[in-house]
Amino acid sequence: MSFDLLVKNAVLPDGMAANIGCAGGKITAVGRDIDGESGVVLDAGGQLVTPPFVDPHFHMDATLSLGLPRMNTSGTLLEGIALWGELKPQQTCDEIIERAMRYCDLAITMGIGAIRSHVDICDDELKGVDALLEVRERVAPYLDLQLVAFPQDGVLRDPNAMQNLIRALDRGVDVVGGIPHFERTMEEGAKSVRLLCEMAAERGLRVDMHCDESDDPMSRHVETLAFEVTRLGLQGRVTGSHLTSMHSMDNYYVSKLISLIAEAELHAVPNPLINIMLQGRHDTYPKRRGQTRVPELRAAGVNVGFGSDCVMDPWYSLGRADMLDVAAMGLHVGQLSSRADMRWCFDAVTVNSASVMGLEDYGLEVGCNANFVLLQADDPIEALRLRAHRLATVRGGKVISQTARIEHALELPNRPETLDPSAYAPKGNSG
Ligand code: FE2
Repeated sequence: MSFDLLVKNAVLPDGMAANIGCAGGKITAVGRDIDGESGVVLDAGGQLVTPPFVDPHFHMDATLSLGLPRMNTSGTLLEGIALWGELKPQQTCDEIIERAMRYCDLAITMGIGAIRSHVDICDDELKGVDALLEVRERVAPYLDLQLVAFPQDGVLRDPNAMQNLIRALDRGVDVVGGIPHFERTMEEGAKSVRLLCEMAAERGLRVDMHCDESDDPMSRHVETLAFEVTRLGLQGRVTGSHLTSMHSMDNYYVSKLISLIAEAELHAVPNPLINIMLQGRHDTYPKRRGQTRVPELRAAGVNVGFGSDCVMDPWYSLGRADMLDVAAMGLHVGQLSSRADMRWCFDAVTVNSASVMGLEDYGLEVGCNANFVLLQADDPIEALRLRAHRLATVRGGKVISQTARIEHALELPNRPETLDPSAYAPKGNSG
C-alpha cells in the first residue's frame, strides 16, 4: 500500500493500538499491521491520536477584544452585552478579521478542527458578517468554520434585526440563530422561536439558539423550541445552546421537558467555562452552578456537546482555545467523575460536537477525512487530566502544526485503566 502520510504506533481513543494510512486527504487504512510506502511518516510513539477537537459554540467576532473599549467590571452577562454594544460601532471589518485570524492560528495549534461561531447581525453594516465570511474562506484549508446569524439584541426587540438576519443568510451565513430569553416578553420570545424555526425550515438550514441563558426557572423557551422542531420536521438539525435555566427548574417539570427535547432530537450545548462564571450572579449562598442537566439529558439519549463560547472578550477575560479545559470544567461542574463519565467528557468536545455541527466524514475510520491530532497522553482521561500537550495537528493528510514533547513529572508510570480500555469505554452512541 502507498500513502501520503503514515502514522505509526498510535493509540486510538478506544484504547486500540493502530497505524493510520492517509492518501488523497482521506484515511485509507487503519490497523495494527498497516504498513507501506509513504511520503511522510509520523511516529506517534504510543500516544493518543484523536479526531480533532470541535468547538460547537463560539463568538469569533468578539474574541481577543478584551479591554475594548473598557473592561466588564461587574462580570455579568448583561454588562458584557452592553459593553459589546459600545464596541460594535467602533470596530472595523479589518480589525475583526485580524483578531479572528489570530484566534484561528491559536485554535489550530490547539488541535481544533472545526468551530461553529455565532456572528452578531444586530449591526446595520453587517461588519462582523462580512469579516467572518472572509475568515471562513481564508481558514478553510485548515479549519471548518460554520457561522450562525445571531441577533444579539433580540430578533424582535431590535427593529432592524429580522431584516439584517435575512441579509446575513443571503450572504452565505450557514445557520439560523436566536436569543428568545432576551426578547421583551415570554410571548415575544416564543414568537421569535417560531419565526426563526420557520425561516430555517423554508431555507433548509440548521438552527442554533442561545436558549434560556439565565437562572430563571420560568425561562422555558426550550419547550417552544422542541415543539417547533417537531412541528416543522427539523429533528436532528437544531441546537439549544446554554439551557442554563434547566439547572434551576422544578424537577417534575424537567422530567417532562427532557422527553420533549429527546423527541425533537435537539442537540444540547452547555458552555461550562462561561456558565460557571456568569450564572448564579444574583444568588447569595448557596450559589447555583447554572450548568444544564448534562447527566439527565445524556440518559435520555440527547446528544450533548461542550462549547467554549468566549476567549478574552466582553464576557470572559480568560481562555486559550483549549477544548480540554472546557471539558474539564464541564466534568467538574457536572460531577462527572466516574471513569465512564470522564471518558464521555472527551467525546463531548470531539464526536458529540461534530454531530452538533453536522460534520461529515469525521472520525478515524477508513473513508473519513484525514484530520486528527496527536496528543502527549496515553488515553482520553489522561488527556483531560493533563490538558495534554498537542504534539501534531493533521489536516487533509498533511501535518499543519507540530511541536516537541514537553517533559513533566505528571505522567504516571502505571495506569490501571489502560489495561482494559473497554471497561470504561462508553457503550454505543456516546451522545
Ligand atoms: Fe454564546
